[in-house]
Amino acid sequence: MLHSRTKHRGRRLRGNFDRLGDSITPTRFGSRNSFVERGDEGKVEGHNSLQIPVIGRALNRLGPKGRFLGIALIIAVGITLFWVYTERKIGADYLVADRHNPAQISLGRTLYRANCAFCHGDKLEGKPGWEEAYPRGGRPALPLNGDGTIVRLSDHDLFNVTKYGGQSFSPASYKNDMPGFEMQLSDADMWAILAYVKSTWTEDVIEEQRAATEERND
Ligand code: HEC
Repeated sequence: MLHSRTKHRGRRLRGNFDRLGDSITPTRFGSRNSFVERGDEGKVEGHNSLQIPVIGRALNRLGPKGRFLGIALIIAVGITLFWVYTERKIGADYLVADRHNPAQISLGRTLYRANCAFCHGDKLEGKPGWEEAYPRGGRPALPLNGDGTIVRLSDHDLFNVTKYGGQSFSPASYKNDMPGFEMQLSDADMWAILAYVKSTWTEDVIEEQRAATEERND
């Protein structure tokens, strides 16, 4: 009894696979014509699965491997744009340099690398020779990591130097090579960079800055 039922089920299964193999799965109406139509539909569906025809056609031409890479690339670009957008949105709300704010620091790090690292260094270490005397100017970029003279500047000084450039705050006889970023960066962008800069400072440097700027009633 049990034996014969198993056999029966086995035959039924095999029957289904047979039909799949022939690609003539019966439709509800069971006519031979409808088998053919179904097959065609399947193909058409494949072409139409992407709504944007140009991209769809391009992807079809790429083949399965290329299609996979293409889609992976589109997704990667999408994620990157979304990430940059949210980072900007979160960071853009702050007009102070908050060295404990991860979103602002993260935005600042990205902007620092794009705008400042070229002169001030990947580790904010400045350019060699910055500590020498340059009475007429032309000093190499100073360190921003707390090693140099930066502690004598308040947050507002740092912001103003970044926005308007060093020359605005130097005597005419001194050539200050720190450019201003008024045209390239928003105020919030510059505060974010300063939050990142200050996030690299030790508590001692923070304290030094506080003492120096309090003395001047800044
Ligand atoms: C083209 C090179 C260059 C770029 C790019 C640059 N800087 Fe500077 N920066 C300098 C130089 C040179 C000085 C020193 C000027 C001097 O004292 O004569 C300086 C000085 C400074 C100072 C004053 C430091 C102090 O101790 O007085 C700050 C703050 C500063 N830069 C911030 C920035 C920030 C923030 C950025 C990016 C948004 C930036 N800099 C991009 C060249 C550059």
